[in-house]
Amino acid sequence: MNILIINGSPKGKESNTYKLTTAFLEGMETGLQDARQNHEVHIDELQVNRLNIKPCLGCFSCWNKTPGKCCIQDDMQEVIAKLLWADVTIWSFPLYYFTVPGGLKNLIDRQLPLVLPLMVEREDQVGNGSHPARYDMNGKKTVVISTCGFYTAEGNYDGVNSLFDHICGKDQYTTLFCGQGELFRVPELSQRTDEYLEYVKTAGKEYVESSISEETRTKLNELLYPREVFERMADASWGIDKESGVKESDALIFTRQMATLYQKESYTGKDQVLEMYYTDLDECYQIVLGKDGSQVYTDGSKNATTRIETPFSVWRSIASGEMRGDEALMKQLYKVKGDFDLMLNWDTYFGGSDSSGNNNTSEADAGKNSHENEPGSKYIPKKGTNMNIMLTPWIVFWVAVAINGYAGSLVSIGVCALIPLLFYQYKKTPYDLLSSAFVTGCSIAVLLGAPERFMMPLAYLTFGVMWTVTCFGKMPLTAHYSMNHYGGEDAWQNPLFLKTNWILTLMWGILYLLTPIWTYFIMGTEIASLTGAINSLLPIFMGIFTAWFQKWYPARVARGK
Ligand SMILES: Cc1cc2nc3c(=O)[nH]c(=O)nc-3n(C[C@H](O)[C@H](O)[C@H](O)COP(=O)(O)O)c2cc1C
Repeated sequence: MNILIINGSPKGKESNTYKLTTAFLEGMETGLQDARQNHEVHIDELQVNRLNIKPCLGCFSCWNKTPGKCCIQDDMQEVIAKLLWADVTIWSFPLYYFTVPGGLKNLIDRQLPLVLPLMVEREDQVGNGSHPARYDMNGKKTVVISTCGFYTAEGNYDGVNSLFDHICGKDQYTTLFCGQGELFRVPELSQRTDEYLEYVKTAGKEYVESSISEETRTKLNELLYPREVFERMADASWGIDKESGVKESDALIFTRQMATLYQKESYTGKDQVLEMYYTDLDECYQIVLGKDGSQVYTDGSKNATTRIETPFSVWRSIASGEMRGDEALMKQLYKVKGDFDLMLNWDTYFGGSDSSGNNNTSEADAGKNSHENEPGSKYIPKKGTNMNIMLTPWIVFWVAVAINGYAGSLVSIGVCALIPLLFYQYKKTPYDLLSSAFVTGCSIAVLLGAPERFMMPLAYLTFGVMWTVTCFGKMPLTAHYSMNHYGGEDAWQNPLFLKTNWILTLMWGILYLLTPIWTYFIMGTEIASLTGAINSLLPIFMGIFTAWFQKWYPARVARGK
């Protein structure tokens, strides 16, 4: 299959639309590979902004003096050859004045050599009058992909549809039109735009398999962001004061843009004031995060809930994706004063939202995914991990074996046997599997006659070693579980998250390395059957400490300490 992309955006490969086109092409390639029909796939691209294509002179030489050949010698000869070569042509362009950009229109006009001068009636009733093709174009397919600047594509593509109806015939081509096109170049919004691009890929795959499904179409027709959010973002990006028309400072434009990303669904019942102090510019702005949305104040009149102090250049690097925010925090490139909760839940307050305003930031939290229950949704929800899966076999063993070695071991083995069922709902970690394996091993040892007084401390020791060993690797054990509340596996890139977890894992590891000492003695006393229960007391306090430390430590680092 020969696939030709004609990119008509004056921005060339920097084009928003081109992102959709490459995603669609990727989907096509996957579809063709899956079909395993030994299709040889050849792909070629024409970047119209790099071609020398002069406007048509209207001389009709290509019809009379040199039939099929244009009298202008430029790159159009190459374009015509490629159009004849292609089995599928993908036209990719931005909407300009409700039609195609001028450069692309020149290319379209210069296709006249591809038709014969004869007048014929169209069979598909599009307009009145037509010219027959000079070459055999049967079986050739056309895809039209375009983004536009308004909030929706709906109602804005009549001109384009009409043009391609005339060129290809009604319903003889496939379209993919998307509003809010400028958002594809905003790194902070990539969560939403990448989600959209995934659907574009699916569309490409379905296209080569048969045709784009209704479900995918529905997803593609959804707005990237609700109209009012998008229009506020777009207005803020120009940085023009609504009353005076004067251009605002870059830092204020940035603050306003950030404010538009606020998710009012995250409102906790109390207005919060986020104060942004740009240390290099000595400019300070406040964003009030309220029930009905956000508002930017330039006069410093509000009491800040949270104040972030950082050079504007650092924000710029974070916004452009050059640096991660958490990395900058860890390097102490910015300081946070006041309530740190806002920072810990940044994605909930400012994360991406789909067109219905649903917050998608907690996808890793099993059971919380907003897409999960949508009938026919192609979205594959990410499962979250669950620490109880790792802990339960141990707790059952410690409590039950202390009461009755034989029965306790059987119960422990039974619990371990049921654990795999939970993996339908939760993502498994190596420690879930290891725990089940160790507990089963310890239980079998007890059943075979190993003394409980020896096996109980050994089980605590094994548990402690498992935790402590992970502190020497890249990922401390708790990070596999606490990531659910910090953006899923993305949190593993966050040095502050890893350091917090490293400290906690080590503390828990040491606790369980020491537990065998007193366990051995308690197991030799009359209250041996209560060992499991007694040993649960310290972890309760450690649990309370952990919950506090997880918030306290990052906040301490953020204060620059
Ligand atoms: C000269 C010009 C005309 C435009 N006309 C329209 C228009 O009629 N309707 C619209 O929704 N967007 C319009 N836009 C916005 C672009 O279609 C939009 O920014 C698009 O995403 C750019 O895509 P590209 O990056 O692929 O070139 C226009 C932009 C320019 C520069």
